[in-house]
This record gives sequence, structure tokens and C-alpha cells, in this order.
Amino acid sequence: MDSISGMRLIQSFTNEEFESRRFAERNQENMTANLKSVRLRSMFGPIIDLLNNIGLVAVIVFGAWQVMEGEFTIGLIVAFLAYLRLLQSPVRNFSRVISIVRQSAAAFERITEILETQPEISDKGNAIELPAIKKKIEFKSVDFAYDETVPVLGNLNLTMKAGQVTALVGSSGAGKSTITSLLIRFYDPQNGTIKMDGHNIKDVSLKSLRGQMGIVSQDIILFNGSIRDNIVYGKLNATDDEIIESAKAANAHDFISAFPDGYDSQIGERGVKLSGGQKQRIAIARALLKNPQIIILDEATAALDTESEHLIQQALSRLMKKRTSIVIAHRLSTIHDADQIIVLEKGQVLEKGTHDQLMQNNGRYKQLHDLQFPQLSDIKYLAT
Ligand SMILES: Nc1ncnc2c1ncn2[C@@H]1O[C@H](COP(=O)(O)OP(=O)(O)OP(=O)(O)O)[C@@H](O)[C@H]1O
Ligand SMILES: [Mg+2]
Repeated sequence: MDSISGMRLIQSFTNEEFESRRFAERNQENMTANLKSVRLRSMFGPIIDLLNNIGLVAVIVFGAWQVMEGEFTIGLIVAFLAYLRLLQSPVRNFSRVISIVRQSAAAFERITEILETQPEISDKGNAIELPAIKKKIEFKSVDFAYDETVPVLGNLNLTMKAGQVTALVGSSGAGKSTITSLLIRFYDPQNGTIKMDGHNIKDVSLKSLRGQMGIVSQDIILFNGSIRDNIVYGKLNATDDEIIESAKAANAHDFISAFPDGYDSQIGERGVKLSGGQKQRIAIARALLKNPQIIILDEATAALDTESEHLIQQALSRLMKKRTSIVIAHRLSTIHDADQIIVLEKGQVLEKGTHDQLMQNNGRYKQLHDLQFPQLSDIKYLAT
């Protein structure tokens, strides 16, 4: 089943061509190796048989001669031949065992290779513990590209204040999710620095950096297992009460309790099917349970029904309360009250300010606002 979801991942990245080419290459290598092993084995078998039979002939010839000389009795020869037969199959087995041992050695080598692969991003030798963030997160002249030929962020400068809500908006592909991936150090920028309270995040331990952050990501990651397993992932030693408390705050408790197996319901192929909004609320419960200093919210683009939207909005404001929040919003209602809105375009900051300031600016933000949410803004202004 997981290979099927793996397939989805490949498809979603449109890497089919690359993957299938790589697969074909591996297949070719595998076939060559298999052919070699079959050739060896088919040579080995007859050789062993031949040796066996030569031995047999030698014993019979030598035995017959010795019997004629009167040195051996016929009985001795017959017994010897019987013992020789007994020896045959262990010898054959032995050659088979040797081939299995060789195969396992190759597999072992491959496993060690994988286990010893150094991740690209790792702690410096003298990494320090990042203290709880109090002042600000700063991106200074950050250049970043996933693939050297296509720059994604160019000379990006931005500051996010601790305890505030910073929203990132901009069209698809502007680099919003990339900024959060750099902050959590899934990647390092090619140039420039990212500092938290003056500490370059390259100098602090990954554990202390990522430990401070909670992510509710664009593509919500739930794994196969129960709903409880998925929530408790935020804090592995959480008690049942804590789990239920965070599920309640995430507006997830009611729908979870409605399942026959409640929190023990399995998610996925053989378990309950969750809607997009339900998955999101489980991810929010997980983040609430972790109780991080910094919350990164990469809003899903998929449209939700109004009720679900309202429940999620409520859950999100509980999650963002009293934290440093970085919100990537597609629904601008999420960020209406943000302390700072940063508008990005092609990896650059286009404009920044509060909602009111940006609406007055009459720039890209207002354009996005009017373009994407005409009804929403109408309703809002009618209501107030
Ligand atoms: N893992 C990756 N490998 C290579 N290129 C990537 C990767 N992730 C994103 N990109 C590219 O980087 C650019 C910025 O992507 P990013 O995901 O940051 O955009 P975004 O602003 O979050 O867009 P959206 O609103 O659609 O989520 C895009 O051109 C994208 O194609
Ligand atoms: Mg994104």
C-alpha cells in the first residue's frame, strides 16, 4: 500500500520520467548481476557432480584392484561406496550455502551503505542549543535554488517578530513554502544567513531548532496507524488527557469520537477515510500537542466547505495564540489580522505591511485580494 502512496508522490512531483529511467537502469544492472550468478551456479553444479563421479570411479577402480590383490574385501568396498553417497548431498549443500552467504554479504554491504549515508544537513561539531526565541527571525540576503540553474529566492531580506503573526502571500511558486523549508533547515541557502535572535541557524543543533517549531503543512502528512498515533507524534509521551485536550482545541474531538473505534480508528486504506478538513484538524491537534514556540502554517489550497472552514479557522486561531506564527495563506481571511503581511513575487519581497496599509497601497496585495476573494471581501464589508 505504501508503494501506491509513494507512486502518488512521484506523480505529484511529475518525476515519472526520471523515476522510470532510473528504474530501467537499476533493472538492467540487476539482470546482469542475476545472469552472472545463474551462469556461475550452472557451472558450479555440474563441476561438483563431475568431481563426485570421478571420485566414485576412482574408488571403484582402486577398490577392484585391491580386492583382486586380496587386500580389501568386497564388503569393505560396498560400505565405502555407501558412505561416499552419504557425503554427496552435504557437499552439494555446502556449495549452495556458500552462494547464499555471498548474496547476504552483498545485501549487508548495501544496508551498511544506506545506514552510513550522511544527511546533507547535519549538526556542526560545536552546535549550540538554540534558546527559546524572544526577539526576531531574520533572513539576510538569502539566495536559494533547489537546482542551481533555477533561482527560487534572490537576495531575500525579511524580519519576523517573535510573538507576532507574519503572513506570507503571493502567487503560486513565489517561494512561500521554500522560505519555511529553509527556516526549519530542510535545506541551507546558497548565500546569506538566517538568524534567530542573532544565532545563525546553521550554528545551532537541529534538535533545538526544529524542537521549537510546529508545522501544519500544505500537504498534510498522516501516516498509516491510528488517529491517536498520528496525534501523539507531536509529543510521544503525552497522556490520553493531553491528547483529547488538544483534539478538542483543534475541533477534532467530536468527529473522532463519532468513529466506532474513536481515537483507535485506523487511518488509511483499511481504516476510516478522512476528509481534507478532518486531516487538517488532526494535524492541528498534533501541532497543539507539541506546543511549539513557533508555528508554521502552510495553508492547504484545497477549498473546504463553509462549516469545516469555520471549525478550522477557530482551531488555527487557538494554535496561533501567544506564539510566533508564520502563516502562508491562500484564504486571506486567515491573515486579515496579521501583524505583518509580506507579499512575495518570484522570490522577492514586493511589499509589506498590515492588511489596511496594503489595501491602501493599492498594489499587488489588493490585486490578489480582489482577484481571489471577491465574494469574501464583499461579504466582509457588508457585515461590518
Ligand atoms: N523540492 C523542490 N525541488 C525543486 N524545485 C522546487 C521544489 N519545491 C519547490 N520548487 C520550486 O521552487 C519554486 C517555489 O516553490 P514554493 O513551493 O516555495 O512556492 P509557493 O510560493 O509555496 O507556491 P504555492 O502557493 O503553490 O504553494 C517553484 O518554482 C517550485 O517549482
Ligand atoms: Mg507552497
